[in-house]
Parts: sequence; structure tokens; C-alpha cells
Amino acid sequence: MRRKLLFGNWKMNKSIEEARAFAKESHELKKFADSINVEIGVAPTYLSLAAVKEENPELNVAAQNCHFEDHGAFTGEISIPMLKELHIDWVIIGHSERRTYFGETNEACNKKLHALTSNDMKVIYCVGETLDEFEKGLTKKVIAKQVEEGLKGLSVEQLKKVVIAYEPVWAIGTGKSASKEIAEDICGYCRELIKKNFGAVSEEIRILYGGSVKPENVHDYLMQANVDGALVGGASLKVDSFHQLIANIAK
Ligand code: PGA
Repeated sequence: MRRKLLFGNWKMNKSIEEARAFAKESHELKKFADSINVEIGVAPTYLSLAAVKEENPELNVAAQNCHFEDHGAFTGEISIPMLKELHIDWVIIGHSERRTYFGETNEACNKKLHALTSNDMKVIYCVGETLDEFEKGLTKKVIAKQVEEGLKGLSVEQLKKVVIAYEPVWAIGTGKSASKEIAEDICGYCRELIKKNFGAVSEEIRILYGGSVKPENVHDYLMQANVDGALVGGASLKVDSFHQLIANIAK
């Protein structure tokens, strides 16, 4: 049985003090989530990682990106050993904003996935089509390429450390969420692709939906057979709203 996972992606939001304040209140959130067997986590900015982990060492805390090399001349980047020093063991890779604004390719994601999973880190690997691709009926083609190129060459043991997040780009931050049928169809398709490439382990891999997930629609998504959780931007920023997301899963 795959445990439901609700992860907040804070993007470029919250000062260190704001992140710390949320983390202080997250003990209750985590207790509540545990009580209904839901796993939760947050992805603050790099600058707030230490503060959040310090306030709540029990909470899953993810970086929003990292480099695949351990050190070197990569201005502006941070590495896996640096995250480990802060006891961070989750990283989001390939978010559409990284792909769109910072030129992140499937190939770069693949290098990061290899580096992370062979260093015992857990990864949320994001995939998703643009509005143009969606309208042209290219969704599955795009997803297949992102999933297969991103996960290329991983061993089954490495793959077990990966969570996939299907996030249609046209639904991120737009308030225009995909229907639960689309979410189920594409999350199910991701599972088929994993089965084709890696075999029966596909049943163990968690696949999240992301894109304008709110307390009002989280239940519908998470009731789908192939949707094992959600990656949430805007609605994860406030403790109340995060609490409501957890509460509504169980409804
Ligand atoms: P959103 O963002 O929930 O604000 O649409 C989701 C994401 O980008 O992960």
C-alpha cells in the first residue's frame, strides 16, 4: 500500500523567519498527518532549509534543486554534500519553473537523479506538458520522454527513492487545475511507463499530482487509484491551509 504524500513547494516565498514560524507550527501538522497515515513535507528556499530542519527535525524537508557535482566552479549552485550537512534528504528535480526559466533539460535531471539516488537522497521528479502541448494532444508523448530520459539508467533500488510528480504546466499557479480524470489518466500512464522500463516495482512508486491543488479539490485527486499524493504550491504556504489540505484528504 502506497502511503499518501503531501508536499509543499514554497518556491521563492518566505523569509527565513517566516519559514521558521511555519516550522514551529508544523509539529502539530505532522502529528495530525501521522494520525491519518499521511506523510507530509515542505520545500523551502535554500536559505531557510537549516531553520526549518532545526525547528522540526522530524519534518520531511526538501531542497528545490541541487547540482549533480559535489563541488567545483558552478557559481550559484549548491551540492548534495552541502544538503547532507544540513540533514536534508529530499530534493525536487525538474520542476517546470526550473525547466522553463533556467533551461533544465531531461538530461540534466537524469544526472541529478543518478547523483541523488546513489547518495541515499529522495527525489521528487516533476514532469508535465505545456498548454500548447496539451492542446495539440501531445501530453503522453511529452510525459514519456520526460519520464524515460529522466529515469534512464537508474537501478530498481535507485528508483525506489524517487517520487514522480505529474504537474501540467498550464495548471501551475493558474487556478486552472486539471480534472481528476486527467490526473488519474496521466499518473496511471507514468506508472505504465515505469512498469515497462523497470517492472513490478512500478506498484511501489508514488506518483503525485500537482497544479492548483487546494483544500477544496485535494480529496478528488487523492481518491484516484494512481494518484498517491500532491505537490502543492500556493495552498501550502499557510499553516491553516496546509492543515485543511490534510484534513480534506481523509473526508
Ligand atoms: P500551485 O503550484 O499549487 O501553486 O499551482 C504547484 C507546483 O508548482 O508545484
